[in-house]
Amino acid sequence: MKRLYIASLLGALVLYSCMVELAICSSNITDQSALLSFKSHITQDPNIKLGNWTTETNFCDWEGVSCSRRRQRVTALSLGNMGLAGSISPYIGNLSFLKVLDLGNNSFDGPLINEIGRLHRLTDLILHKNNLQGGIPLDLYQCRKLQVIVLAVNNFTGGIPEELSSLSFLRTLLLEKNNLTGRIPPSFGNISSLESFGLGGNNIHGSIPIELAQLPNLKAFDLTSNHLTGPVPSSIYNHSSLRYLSLADNQLTGPIQEFTNSILDVIDLSKNDLHGPIPPLSTAHSFISHNKFTGEIPLAICNMSSPIILDLSHNSLNGVIPECFGNFSNVLRVLDLGMNNFRGNIPVTIAKRNKSGRWRWRSVEEIKNDDAARVQIVGGSVVCNQTKGVRAATEEEIKDDSNNTLQHIRVLKTKF
Ligand SMILES: *[C@@H]1O[C@H](CO)[C@@H](O)[C@H](O)[C@H]1NC(C)=O
Ligand SMILES: *[C@@H]1O[C@H](CO)[C@@H](O)[C@H](O)[C@H]1NC(C)=O
Ligand SMILES: *[C@@H]1O[C@H](CO)[C@@H](O)[C@H](O)[C@H]1NC(C)=O
Ligand SMILES: *[C@@H]1O[C@H](CO)[C@@H](O)[C@H](O)[C@H]1NC(C)=O
Ligand SMILES: *[C@@H]1O[C@H](CO)[C@@H](O)[C@H](O)[C@H]1NC(C)=O
Ligand SMILES: *[C@@H]1O[C@H](CO)[C@@H](O)[C@H](O)[C@H]1NC(C)=O
Ligand SMILES: *[C@@H]1O[C@H](CO)[C@@H](O)[C@H](O)[C@H]1NC(C)=O
Ligand SMILES: *[C@@H]1O[C@H](CO)[C@@H](O)[C@H](O)[C@H]1NC(C)=O
Ligand SMILES: *[C@@H]1O[C@H](CO)[C@@H](O)[C@H](O)[C@H]1NC(C)=O
Ligand SMILES: *[C@@H]1O[C@H](CO)[C@@H](O)[C@H](O)[C@H]1NC(C)=O
Ligand SMILES: *[C@@H]1O[C@H](CO)[C@@H](O)[C@H](O)[C@H]1NC(C)=O
Ligand SMILES: *[C@@H]1O[C@H](CO)[C@@H](O)[C@H](O)[C@H]1NC(C)=O
Repeated sequence: MKRLYIASLLGALVLYSCMVELAICSSNITDQSALLSFKSHITQDPNIKLGNWTTETNFCDWEGVSCSRRRQRVTALSLGNMGLAGSISPYIGNLSFLKVLDLGNNSFDGPLINEIGRLHRLTDLILHKNNLQGGIPLDLYQCRKLQVIVLAVNNFTGGIPEELSSLSFLRTLLLEKNNLTGRIPPSFGNISSLESFGLGGNNIHGSIPIELAQLPNLKAFDLTSNHLTGPVPSSIYNHSSLRYLSLADNQLTGPIQEFTNSILDVIDLSKNDLHGPIPPLSTAHSFISHNKFTGEIPLAICNMSSPIILDLSHNSLNGVIPECFGNFSNVLRVLDLGMNNFRGNIPVTIAKRNKSGRWRWRSVEEIKNDDAARVQIVGGSVVCNQTKGVRAATEEEIKDDSNNTLQHIRVLKTKF
């Protein structure tokens, strides 16, 4: 009796969901009207990309629209890089089969409407580089299948919704360069699938949740330019999958430890209030300038495999410059030791290479942002003046580095 009851209940459920499914399936008209509403909210289309969005043709053939073959329902709307302006129509929430929404690098403004939360099949939400404002919709967490959320370079305000931590397939969450406030929800440490987390260039306060730094699959972690305080979470030092770490331009305090992960490629801890001795840095690109580090450069740094950029400038380091830096001359692009309290000579191993060639000074920022990275560096250059700070050395000065009075030393290598 009981079994029969359950069977018929199941049957009724199946029947009911079929009916609902049928009702949805039979109305690809819904998709068409959602797309037409989307188009009607577009105020600028400089390249007439939506020119063939007309009812005379099947919407599955419209520019940027992809459909499922069988059901003829919209599965992807890919309209990135098209110069479109306007707002995002709430009707977009009716595209119930949508998996990919890519409107990145356009000029959409207004809020990101809550209706987006109705897109239960959505995996990729890509809206970077627009003028979207208002809060990140709380309902976004209802898109259970989301893997990629890219909202960077907009004008989103308010906090990071804690609800997003329940998105258990999320791999990429990029929220850089908005105007987000509040703290990082510690519950984000529950998104074990997370690989890239970017929050740089916002107004985030508080400390870095240790839970987040323990995420097992994290590869890129960017919290640059916020107002974060407290220590660098200890779990980051031996994190085994991390490749890119930037906590630069915050108010982090305390000493740091040696990073033991050999696949870590970039460490940027510059512009914080970190202090204590510097550990041996074995990462290819290490930026720890503009802190309060003290003590000598550890000799273990000579065991670094292949430093490409090593920026220790603007600290309170002292002692002598290790001879071994000359060993790295072939790969080293930037060695910046400026604004410290070193004494002694520039090691001949570095200086000797500088006799020929034309030299030009570039800031580390300039080199960091040199995407092309076509700059070929062959030799080095030297400067010293305690009162005046740093300047480029002349070739004559480089030849004669016999003065033992150097206090501020900057060796920055670039040659064209
Ligand atoms: C809607 O579905 C019907 C039946 O499957 C199909 O004939 C028609 O072409 C579809 N319309 C559009 C605009 O895709
Ligand atoms: C609309 O334009 C796109 C890109 O030019 C083209 O691939 C597509 O076939 C066009 N669709 C129709 C219905 O003309
Ligand atoms: C952004 O879109 C414009 C066209 O509107 C294009 O020229 C530009 O290259 C795109 N930028 C990127 C980074 O793709
Ligand atoms: C689609 O979405 C809009 C706004 O969210 C709503 O008013 C409308 O009733 C929805 N349904 C259909 C079938 O268009
Ligand atoms: C961002 O939004 C705020 C208020 O919502 C506004 O005052 C500000 O001008 C906007 N900034 C940009 C760059 O659009
Ligand atoms: C960030 O938000 C604050 C307060 O809402 C506002 O004053 C400021 O202009 C915003 N910054 C940007 C870059 O939009
Ligand atoms: C992580 O999720 C579990 C439940 O799945 C919850 O009990 C715990 O509080 C969450 N952790 C954080 C830091 O929110
Ligand atoms: C990192 O070190 C801590 C102890 O310092 C240890 O408990 C943890 O298992 C280590 N993690 C990895 C990934 O090696
Ligand atoms: C460099 O590495 C070698 C071998 O791994 C080790 O014997 C030596 O003590 C290290 N040197 C420093 C200064 O750490
Ligand atoms: C590095 O340089 C030091 C001093 O110049 C030298 O003694 C040492 O053998 C060099 N090490 C390697 C691995 O080239
Ligand atoms: C450093 O600069 C000061 C002020 O211009 C100058 O008087 C001094 O001679 C300079 N010292 C060296 C070693 O160049
Ligand atoms: C070495 O110091 C002397 C005396 O201060 C100065 O005249 C000379 O220019 C210095 N040489 C170099 C290469 O800095």
